[in-house]
Amino acid sequence: MDRSMKPVWVTGAGGLIGAELVRQASSQAPGWRVIPLTRRELDLTDEAAVTRRFREDQPRVIVHCAGLTRGAQCDVDPTLARALNVEVTRRLACLGGESVFVFFSTDLLFDGRRGWYAEQDEPRPRGVYCETKREGELATLEHSRHIVLRTTLNYGRSPSGDRSFNEDMLRAASAGRRIKLFTDEYRCPIPWTETARATWDLVNGLLEPSALPAPAGIFHVAGAERLSRWEIGKLVAELHPELQGALEPTSIRDYQGPPRPADSSLRCERIRPWLTSRLPGFKEWVRAKTAHGAS
Ligand SMILES: NC(=O)c1ccc[n+]([C@@H]2O[C@H](COP(=O)([O-])OP(=O)(O)OC[C@H]3O[C@@H](n4cnc5c(N)ncnc54)[C@H](OP(=O)(O)O)[C@@H]3O)[C@@H](O)[C@H]2O)c1
Repeated sequence: MDRSMKPVWVTGAGGLIGAELVRQASSQAPGWRVIPLTRRELDLTDEAAVTRRFREDQPRVIVHCAGLTRGAQCDVDPTLARALNVEVTRRLACLGGESVFVFFSTDLLFDGRRGWYAEQDEPRPRGVYCETKREGELATLEHSRHIVLRTTLNYGRSPSGDRSFNEDMLRAASAGRRIKLFTDEYRCPIPWTETARATWDLVNGLLEPSALPAPAGIFHVAGAERLSRWEIGKLVAELHPELQGALEPTSIRDYQGPPRPADSSLRCERIRPWLTSRLPGFKEWVRAKTAHGAS
């Protein structure tokens, strides 16, 4: 290992996006020595252990993917949601003198009435997950050099096989359950590989010398197409034919659960100057995959 490379922590390295960041590091982050932190490696709620490890590693950047990421889990245990999504975030953001902290947040903190939200639009989070993610954002943005990366529905394969929405769909279908998908709720889905690549592009912008200013503040990272949940489901079924027949269209008007943003599509212009290739639309990405016979 080249010790002259700058150390970077990736937390949540056992999760969907964190594991992909680690996998891509040798190709996308050649200037960095990536230190993957799974929960087993370092429990981020153990403040003393985190401080000790930070002093040892002295990471120049912390890419923070860990958190309580499922809305339902956050509703069941709001105390844990706050501890992980807010307090751990606040402590990591405060740790290093010169280090840059990158916090992953979500498109779901917009109210979804309008769609195509830009970074400067006002979040109106509802529900424990979204409220704690917004508090995590605000704790991050107290430091002017830090970064908030808001992403959206990520298609992908996680190490545990149970993190992404498509993995949820496959599990439901194999249990013989019908998968109801809204024809009138919209997101801009993105493959997890593209989220990780865009993240490394941005983090690489922190290396000196760079033609661009060091990135800081809020950035949106999402697919280029706004699609309904139903359209997204049908595209996922092109990659996983075992889903065909299990999908059923429905309307958000018939939904009884906690509030959901109807349209949380994101504008992603701000990150563009740092990107090495453009963020694709999900349909375009799926069609390219199926043309090559892979999922
Ligand atoms: N995936 C999406 O579609 C999506 C969309 C919008 C925003 N985001 C945000 O993007 C980030 C990454 O998402 P993801 O999908 O990769 O999440 P994920 O797969 O759920 O991964 C989260 C990771 O956090 C770890 N973790 C939980 N508690 C911990 C603790 N006390 N100490 C250390 N690690 C702990 C988990 O460890 P275990 O594996 O041991 O549980 C897990 O590996 C999150 O902040 C999420 O809110 C994701």
